[in-house]
Amino acid sequence: MRGSPSWDPSAYGRFADERSRPFVDLVAQVRAEDPRLVVDIGCGHGPSTLLLAQRWPEARVVGVDSAESMIEAARRLDTEERVEWVLGDLNEWDLASLGQAPDVIVTNSTLQWVPRHLDLVDPWVAALADGGWFALQVPGNFDAPSHALMRETAAAHPRAGELTAALDMPSVGEPATYLRLLDRLGCTVDAWETTYLHQLDPDAQDENPVLTWVTATALRPVLDLLEEDEERAAFLEPYAAALLEAYPRGSSGVLFPFRRVFAVAQKTGEPRS
Ligand SMILES: C[S@@+](CC[C@H](N)C(=O)[O-])C[C@H]1O[C@@H](n2cnc3c(N)ncnc32)[C@H](O)[C@@H]1O
Repeated sequence: MRGSPSWDPSAYGRFADERSRPFVDLVAQVRAEDPRLVVDIGCGHGPSTLLLAQRWPEARVVGVDSAESMIEAARRLDTEERVEWVLGDLNEWDLASLGQAPDVIVTNSTLQWVPRHLDLVDPWVAALADGGWFALQVPGNFDAPSHALMRETAAAHPRAGELTAALDMPSVGEPATYLRLLDRLGCTVDAWETTYLHQLDPDAQDENPVLTWVTATALRPVLDLLEEDEERAAFLEPYAAALLEAYPRGSSGVLFPFRRVFAVAQKTGEPRS
């Protein structure tokens, strides 16, 4: 299993509308009215966290991320210094360090990188204020062609062993996995899945927009390993060709279905053993 990959805020900022929509759909189900403390765990380069600050202008808002590049980009984006940005690994960072119980904890598109992340949910919910909200979203697309072809290409590469290990992602749950867990923790839960049908690059500016998309996310562990041009090309050439075949261009751009799993929970009771 690989460690956390490198992150490139400008690459991640491509397709900003498509990437922000699940966050907006997630947070729409959080009905906190006047939260005092809102925490975004795995906040990335900041735009989503700043949406939380806009939604709850009176709240103290904290964004935590383990990538220095992301936290630096977030600080640059937050020109009014509205958010407290914290560099920290969510496996070690202690919510108690904030000195007050959070009313809202959001973690969007982050826990898929974290082995055994279900174990973290229990202490996070325990740390919430009574009546507080916990909201998570993870991609549920690991069997999609974009990922299956990545694994196939890795298996045929001269550094197959390392690449295959690097692509061994921690597993994410189904909606029912999160629903059962959060229900047991004393929450009222809404869990669901949505497959977005992204229409990438309708103006045909990018020869391979699915490659551009994954370059900012799922492909990071491969790019981190293959630093030399030749070995990178030995991966990227066949992978790019396979993507073009799997995701052909149509009249409205390149259709890229993307399944995501959501859970929103309000702490309304006590955990059950
Ligand atoms: C796909 S980005 C999502 C960013 C943001 N939540 C959003 O919705 O735009 C995943 C983020 O999770 C962060 N991350 C991954 N593992 C982490 C960890 N162990 N602790 C803290 N942040 C982590 C990465 O640095 C990255 O910024």
